Amino acid sequence: MKSIQSNIKKAKNYLDNNHCIAVPTETVYGLAGNAYSNDAIKKIFKLKKRPINNPLIVHYYNLDQLEKDCDLNDNFLKLYKKFSPGPITYILKLKKNSKISKFVTNNKKTLAVRFPKHNLFKILLKSLSYPLAAPSANLSSRLSSVKVSDVKDEFGKKIKFILDGGKSKIGVESTILSLLNRPSILRYGGLDVSKIEKVLNKKLLININTKIKISPGLFPLHYSPGIPLRINVKIPNKDEAYVLIKKRKVHFKNYYYLTKKRNLDKAAKNLYTILRKIKQDGFKKIAVEKIPNKGLGKTINDRLNRASKY
Ligand code: TXA
Ligand code: MG
Repeated sequence: MKSIQSNIKKAKNYLDNNHCIAVPTETVYGLAGNAYSNDAIKKIFKLKKRPINNPLIVHYYNLDQLEKDCDLNDNFLKLYKKFSPGPITYILKLKKNSKISKFVTNNKKTLAVRFPKHNLFKILLKSLSYPLAAPSANLSSRLSSVKVSDVKDEFGKKIKFILDGGKSKIGVESTILSLLNRPSILRYGGLDVSKIEKVLNKKLLININTKIKISPGLFPLHYSPGIPLRINVKIPNKDEAYVLIKKRKVHFKNYYYLTKKRNLDKAAKNLYTILRKIKQDGFKKIAVEKIPNKGLGKTINDRLNRASKY
C-alpha cells in the first residue's frame, strides 16, 4: 500500500511539472500528460514520433470533470452508465471555453474521451486537477504495450517514469464510438460492438474503412510488429512464425497459440504479447491462420489486417 501511494505521488509530481509518463490501463498502457498543458502534449507527440494531425484521447475520472470540456448528449449518458469506466472511447463536441490544449485535438472542435477502469490509473486521475491525454504507449504505427517491459522496449531510457500496474486485462485498445451525429464505430476495440448496439437499440454505422479519414489513426499500417505479416494463412512457409487461434495436437517450433481453447477475449488479450515474442525469438516473418470474425475476433482481425500492410 505504501509503495502504491509513493508511486502515485511520484507520477503526480512528474505530471504536475508537465512531463509525460507511462500509465497502466485495462486496455493497453498509455503515455500520459496534462491535457490542459501545451508543453506536456508537445512532449507526448515528440516521444511517440506521432504526426501532429492525429488527435489524442483524453482520460477523465468522472462526469463533473468532463462537463467542463464537452457537451454531453443522451446517447452518451446511456452508454456511460452501462460501460464506463471501461474500454470505450466517445467522440463528443468540445465546449468553446474548454481548457483542452489545441495540440490534443489538432485544433478540431471534437474530443475523444474515455473513463479508464484500472484502479491505479483511477487513483492517479483522482489526485489531479486536470484530465490526462494519453495515446497508447508505443512508437507511432507500432504495437501497443500491455506491460512495463513493452513500454521499455518502445522508449528505452527516454521515458521518465512508468507506473507499474501489471499486465493489461483486456490487451487491445478501446472501441471508439462517434456520438456527433448518427452513432458510428470508428475503431473496433475491447468492447464488443453488439453490446453497444443492444443498449442503443439500433445497428451502428461502421466507419472504420471509409476513404474519408475521420480518424487519422486509422491510416493503413498500424499496430505493426515491425516485420511482414500475412493473414488467413492455411499453410505457413518454413521461415514464418505461425500464429494459431488455439493449441494443436501436433506442434512445430514455429507455432504460436493465441489461446488454449479458442476463446476470442483471451486471444485479444494475448495478441500483442505473442506478436512481440515472435519478433524477440528472431523470426523475420509472421503468418496467421484465419481468425473467427465475431465478438473481439473483429478487433483482432482489424489489427492483423492493418499490421499486414507492412
Ligand atoms: O485503449 C485506448 O484507447 C488507449 C488507452 C491508453 O486509453 N489509447 C489509445 O490511444 O489507443 P491512441 O492515441 O493510440 O488511439 C486513439 C485513436 C486514434 O486513432 C485517433 O485518431 C483517434 O483515437 N481520435 C482521437 N481523437 C479523435 C477525434 N476527435 N475524432 C476521431 N478520432 C479521434
Ligand atoms: Mg495507438
